[in-house]
Amino acid sequence: MADLDGLKVSKDYHVDVPFANQTGFFLKGSNSLDWGMKSHLSRIFNPKSGNTVMFAFDHGYFMGSTAGLERLDLLLPQLAPYVDCFMGTRGALRTCVPPELVKSVALRVTSGSSMLQEDLSHEVVAVDIEDAVRMNADCMAVQTFIGAGGQLSSIDNLSRVINAGIRYSVPTMGVCAVGKDMARTDRFFKLATRIIAEMGVQIVKSYDCENFEEVAAACPVPIVVAGGKKLPEKEALELAYGVMQKGAHGVDMGRNIFQSAHPVAMAKAVSKIVHDGYTVKEAWELFQEESR
Ligand code: R5P
Repeated sequence: MADLDGLKVSKDYHVDVPFANQTGFFLKGSNSLDWGMKSHLSRIFNPKSGNTVMFAFDHGYFMGSTAGLERLDLLLPQLAPYVDCFMGTRGALRTCVPPELVKSVALRVTSGSSMLQEDLSHEVVAVDIEDAVRMNADCMAVQTFIGAGGQLSSIDNLSRVINAGIRYSVPTMGVCAVGKDMARTDRFFKLATRIIAEMGVQIVKSYDCENFEEVAAACPVPIVVAGGKKLPEKEALELAYGVMQKGAHGVDMGRNIFQSAHPVAMAKAVSKIVHDGYTVKEAWELFQEESR
């Protein structure tokens, strides 16, 4: 193990220099993957914009019935035309998403905690690769707890899923989890996103933070940013715009879409920012028009 004494502070992020190893395939860090992986990634990320709008509705896996997600069967078909990828559990997908909706799928494959517990960082791999393949999952999402009590088991989960994914050409998305007591600093996210990327995932999901452009620059695979707790709609659009400007490859937004009084209008506005370069003002005007 490297000596930790006298560590130098990282500083050369070259945030204005595009990722170098990029010829051959549109998506950051995916050049050397095989056809199957690239095909799945091209379903998640729009090859034209290079970005994705994932709609996260996996909250039930530890929160049970969640405000805004009471009736997935009614909500999901309405949102389908305006998002690129559904991120959910196999239970929700199989029961509430008609397969003919033709969306890419980020399948949550770890679970084991509930909001009744203090420490949520201990999970297991609850879905095997064969079922992910049966569901035509385009990636498998693994909650990863760096710096928490469950770090070792979550890295073990992540490794197992990545290894299985490589066998079957199914990408893995490492979800950077933030424990209740952990500060959302750029120092933490630089550490956690890079550890997750170096484990071998094809996508990292993380959060906005100070110096996000450095976090994104130092992560050799695309980062999609979670929306987090519900914000007023304009602030959520600012969040989406800000991270896209700073190097994110999309969002994986849940509550800021499904807890809006106008989820469809919100999905449309976010999509315009992510794929069409809308400013916050343009997206906000669209949201207002669509929610009348
Ligand atoms: C958290 O464990 C889940 O992965 C959620 O999907 C994620 O936090 C995104 O949802 P939200 O935008 O509501 O934070």
